[in-house]
Amino acid sequence: MRDPAPTIVRGAGYVLAMDLRIEPLTRDNLDDVLRLPPQAGDDEPVAPTAWSVAEAYVQPTAWPRAIIADGTVTGFVMANWSPEESEPAFRAGIWRMNVAEDARRRGIGRFAVEQVAAEARRRGVDRITVLWDAGHPRSPEGFYLRCGFLPIGELFGQRLGELIV
Ligand SMILES: CC(C)(COP(=O)(O)OP(=O)(O)OC[C@H]1O[C@@H](n2cnc3c(N)ncnc32)[C@H](O)[C@@H]1OP(=O)(O)O)[C@@H](O)C(=O)NCCC(=O)NCCS
Repeated sequence: MRDPAPTIVRGAGYVLAMDLRIEPLTRDNLDDVLRLPPQAGDDEPVAPTAWSVAEAYVQPTAWPRAIIADGTVTGFVMANWSPEESEPAFRAGIWRMNVAEDARRRGIGRFAVEQVAAEARRRGVDRITVLWDAGHPRSPEGFYLRCGFLPIGELFGQRLGELIV
């Protein structure tokens, strides 16, 4: 079977052709997912990847996915689909995301946001949310703003962003 065409990633300073995809966690990709940053003790504005994987095990609404770039596990994204949740901010959105340090700023994070947005549309959801730590020295705020999220408030001391999909 013919391979699908690589995803063309366009940003302000780059145009890259990469074969980008997301896939569920499997016995084959789990080791590589667990090696992604952050590891326990790292100063990153997101929980260690292994914590997220453990949370997904006990939280059936979690939607964890490995991000594969040119055949290599390069990132992790976990969404949450919980339409019955009383807090609107937790009904549909990105819960965790991280990209391998040496693969950042190449459009992989944006690709993951687009994949979550596409999954939202498949589920008949018209908006996704994300919470980020605006005060962290390595805050992902600039990233989420570049991806189109609009800040709509604060929750638990974190900024709440919304993207209409
Ligand atoms: C945040 C993160 C996922 C971004 O992934 P990435 O693959 O580097 O992002 P992209 O290359 O797709 O960037 C998309 C756009 O955001 C911009 N951007 C990325 N990181 C940024 C940052 N820290 N500050 C400002 N802008 C940023 C890029 O320049 C790009 O802009 P452009 O479209 O104008 O070219 C990655 O830096 C990461 O894993 N950080 C540590 C963990 C984290 O903070 N996770 C999010 C918490 S929920």
